[in-house]
Amino acid sequence: MSEQGFVVTPWEVTGVVDYERLIRDFGTQPISDKLGRRLEKVLGSASYLIRRRIFFSHRDLDLILDDYDHGRGFFLYTGRGPSGPMHIGHILSFYFTKWLQDKFQVNVYIQITDDEKFLEEKRNLSYQDTQNWAKENILDIIAAGFDPDRTFILQDTEFLGHAYPLVLKVARRINFSVVRAVFGFTNETNVGMLFYPSIQIIPSFLEKKRCLIPSAIDQDPYWRIQRDVAAPLGYQKAAAIHSKFLPPLTGFQDKMSSSKPETAIFLSDDDNTVRNKVYRYAFSGGQATIEEHRKLGGNPDIDVPFQWLYMFFEPGDSPIERIRADYRSGRMLTGELKDILIERITTFLHEHRARREKAADLVETFKREGALARTIWEMDFRDR
Ligand code: TRP
Repeated sequence: MSEQGFVVTPWEVTGVVDYERLIRDFGTQPISDKLGRRLEKVLGSASYLIRRRIFFSHRDLDLILDDYDHGRGFFLYTGRGPSGPMHIGHILSFYFTKWLQDKFQVNVYIQITDDEKFLEEKRNLSYQDTQNWAKENILDIIAAGFDPDRTFILQDTEFLGHAYPLVLKVARRINFSVVRAVFGFTNETNVGMLFYPSIQIIPSFLEKKRCLIPSAIDQDPYWRIQRDVAAPLGYQKAAAIHSKFLPPLTGFQDKMSSSKPETAIFLSDDDNTVRNKVYRYAFSGGQATIEEHRKLGGNPDIDVPFQWLYMFFEPGDSPIERIRADYRSGRMLTGELKDILIERITTFLHEHRARREKAADLVETFKREGALARTIWEMDFRDR
């Protein structure tokens, strides 16, 4: 663990994350009140994620809004490493990206990094494992409701061959010393991983417009490198908007993990599993007995069920503030708060899974391999 007591890299999140500190360390910008209001105005009902600063940090978001206002447009890029089943924490960014697409009516590129997850040795996944998880995860991503006419799913092992000339142009501009410093690579890191950063940058170059990348803050190191190589290659620096991590059910340490099922709610968890996990594992800010709770009240700041409602499941400002006040005063008990969350999660999962049922028929449409290959070949690869 580092001196500040937490670590955030694309491969590791441990400790209790200090988000202000991350903004300083990563050199990003907090979303100011003025910029926040500008985006909230467009987002309407989806604006709570900005107003509450669940998406809290950015790079060049103001330029994206300028591009939009002046009719230059922009496009969205996000992604998923298919290393296992997806949980609520993973899907938040995809719903947010879908809401951005709905409001701005722009193209979305979704990178599925099956290569990355195969190369990450500590995961110990076979190549076939990564292919199976890619298939599963893509269904969940489609279920978020992206517009089939404006959304492209790029699975690295399938589409990158077409982009190889561009990959090379990016790779030639990234030095070992940079990726070692940015990602903490060592002499034991396999060379696939050293090369991989070039690949995660590629989708940000798929249009000549500015690219906005919604992701959790841990992915920002890639965007820093993207912004160094973009201009010399004739592309625009990517803009980014960064989210916090939804805390693990068990408390604020580390992040949700697929290998510790009690820390997360999976998109495939049935109603009973959801109820049991929330009752048994959700870290509570309530008091030990009902009498004490009535007298002293609960602490919503450290209460995971409250935080999950605040960060995703209760978009309404007056309902969430009512819950906060009732819980703090002791009028609302821990069990009652948990019941609200359970109801929200199960409703959300039922709706998500109903859309997932229909997703299989859409995979070919979203992948559009032939069309994408042509787009990439027809792009202006200037010889620099
Ligand atoms: N590296 C990401 C992961 O491990 C996947 C990813 C690729 C991604 N491109 C992205 C995530 C763009 C957010 C935005 O999950």
